[in-house]
Amino acid sequence: MTTVASIQEQETPVTMLTAYDAPTAALADEAGIDVVLVGDSIGNAVFGYESTLPVTLDDMMRATTSVANAVDDALVVTDLPFLSYGVDRSESLENAGRLLKEAGAHAVKLESGPHTIELTEAMTRLGIPVMAHVGLTPQHVNSVGGYTRQGTTAEQAAEMLDLAKAHEEAGAFSLVIEHVPREVGAAASDELEIPAIGIGAGPETDGQVLVVDDAIGLSERIPPFAEAFGDVRGEMRQAIEQYRDAVESREFPADEHSHSEGLDI
Ligand code: KIV
Ligand code: NA
Repeated sequence: MTTVASIQEQETPVTMLTAYDAPTAALADEAGIDVVLVGDSIGNAVFGYESTLPVTLDDMMRATTSVANAVDDALVVTDLPFLSYGVDRSESLENAGRLLKEAGAHAVKLESGPHTIELTEAMTRLGIPVMAHVGLTPQHVNSVGGYTRQGTTAEQAAEMLDLAKAHEEAGAFSLVIEHVPREVGAAASDELEIPAIGIGAGPETDGQVLVVDDAIGLSERIPPFAEAFGDVRGEMRQAIEQYRDAVESREFPADEHSHSEGLDI
């Protein structure tokens, strides 16, 4: 069983992968992935939105339930979607609580800012473990103006590391650091006690996370820092085309798929 405590103690890099449905989560779990993240990247990967902003708490509740139903060993972490936290304090706590209490997550992830330090402390105190998220925070796409690399000056990097440390002090059990120069990823791993899990943050972080659609080769495009370890897109296309051809040529269904009662009709 992976827990918020065990990933802090493990010697090998923490493996983390997103999943949004039960079959994918079951495969990740069976493969020994440590942390299954129900990312709000479900907005792009599954719903076809241009960003994560339209994703609702209900969307995350349903996806988290599906993932939690399928996972036996991994730690299930769920993203709090845009504006489900940080607007109203008690609503933030209730929303985070629902992802554990009703949907079965073990922890929540929040895109970090100065406004999430106190929230992290309050959630942790209530028994809701919090994973922080610094660097590129896609819910801020409109204020940042794109999905560009973050922490590219010494001053910005120091500010990011300070924010990360403030969340560690507030009780965060781990953090994601996204799309930063590799030396910033390395510094986060060095300077923090809690595991810094990187995505586009270089090889020296305490773990790695990818969007599952990117990792298995299902996404149409992948970010430059990702890697497709398979060609699920090609496999799916081939299977769908073969199905279409078999129906059009009446090769499917064949005798073995068909049943007769010998009825005289
Ligand atoms: O939503 C997501 O998939 C994420 C990871 C990229 C860390 O937040
Ligand atoms: Na996310």
